[in-house]
Amino acid sequence: PKTLIEPFRIHSVEPLRFTTRAERQKALKKAGYNPFLLSSQQVIIDLLTDSGTGAMSSNQWAGMLASDESYAGAASFYRFEAAVKDIMGFNHVIPTHQGRGAEHILFSCIAKKGDIIPNNNHFDTTRAHIENNGAQALDLVVKEGRVPSLVLPFKGNIDLDRLEMLLAEQGRNRVPAILLTVTNNSGGGQPVSMDNIRQTGAIAKKYHVPFFLDACRYAENCYFIKTREKGYETSSIIEIAREMFSYADGCTMSAKKDGLANIGGFLALNDDTLARRCRNMEILVEGFPTYGGMAGYDMEAVAKGLYEALDEEYLSYRIRSIASLGEKLALAKIPIVKPTGGHALYVNAAEMLPHIEPLQYPAWSLTNALYLLGGIRAVEIGSVMFGMQPDGTEKPAAQELVRLAFPRRVYTQSHIDYIAEVLTCLNEQKEVLRGYRIVSQEPVLRHFTARFAYL
Ligand code: F0G
Repeated sequence: PKTLIEPFRIHSVEPLRFTTRAERQKALKKAGYNPFLLSSQQVIIDLLTDSGTGAMSSNQWAGMLASDESYAGAASFYRFEAAVKDIMGFNHVIPTHQGRGAEHILFSCIAKKGDIIPNNNHFDTTRAHIENNGAQALDLVVKEGRVPSLVLPFKGNIDLDRLEMLLAEQGRNRVPAILLTVTNNSGGGQPVSMDNIRQTGAIAKKYHVPFFLDACRYAENCYFIKTREKGYETSSIIEIAREMFSYADGCTMSAKKDGLANIGGFLALNDDTLARRCRNMEILVEGFPTYGGMAGYDMEAVAKGLYEALDEEYLSYRIRSIASLGEKLALAKIPIVKPTGGHALYVNAAEMLPHIEPLQYPAWSLTNALYLLGGIRAVEIGSVMFGMQPDGTEKPAAQELVRLAFPRRVYTQSHIDYIAEVLTCLNEQKEVLRGYRIVSQEPVLRHFTARFAYL
């Protein structure tokens, strides 16, 4: 049979709470037209993020029950450490409460004023931690990665020529690390090829600069390598993962994504001296080195989740179901970032709603319309998120996107079909959508709390 089915049966269910359009209208108004300020009980399908929102397996729950909550030297830590070492191969594993905990430790140990840290695209917390230490976060994704309509296999690749030029000009004194985010979240969830990772590693070695992977969605990236890159067709996902990590000197990880856990993360690395400094910082801001910011049961969930994320049946169901949504939207002529990514689908609101000016926030308008029409919560990645400049002026963002991020193992194909139907219906009446203006806002990360009004 050709039909791809969810590779699990449902063991414990959480009912969806249905709302009427009138109820949603009232709720959104009360939330200042900001979906971040809605209660999850007012949302039918929640695609705000794929972070920490996944469903755990019975195997993970069983592990949690058998956890060791000792402060020092807990057995749960050793199981967690063994899983990370087995898959990623690094010598030192430093547990943290989530991805940004690892970023905090790493960048406060290596970045200083005047430094430059390149990446394909920095995620916002990564950028914030680098900037918080006075360094510059530089995005060097290949230029095809900035063109939403282009269909190419590895639009998350870093531009190797620009990377080499940066190192030749600035040298290791000003570039304390090279990062590569797999998959590239801020760039549409696009993967990075093994070839690009290998060559980045070679450049890093040539200039004696450490190379770190931002590995949140490492398993999804490996699946794309298997299905899109020549030479990996018959490799297992774990073999691909081991090769991928072998080119790097370390990684930061949010286990809330491909760790299939609701919380957790780690920093892993090979350098003994740097690891010692990072552990000292860890004790200061996260916790003792055998738990970091996690409970023993969190470490158990991650230890098992890291392997479950590598399951090929699971990955093919996940990536195929997002691709099938993309195909349905293409039939309805809804512009999206192509090809669809590993964890999310991004709608190009600038192209869909040309009648709304960038600084009247077309992607915000589309996000709110999705909620009103179908109770679906997505996230704007556009001028509300990125338009505010450090000097207080406003500038349109490079793109106006709406991200539909999929929690892992949570929604089924009929949920996907429902999302396609709502978006198609919305597209048929898109001319009636209006722009917004901001009524009140905070000076930093304003999208989380700003309040809006219709224009
Ligand atoms: N790096 C990337 C690429 C991420 O996508 C995230 C989080 C982090 C680091 C930080 O990890 O949340 O555990 O501290 N991304 C979430 C998202 C929040 O919705 O894309 P964290």
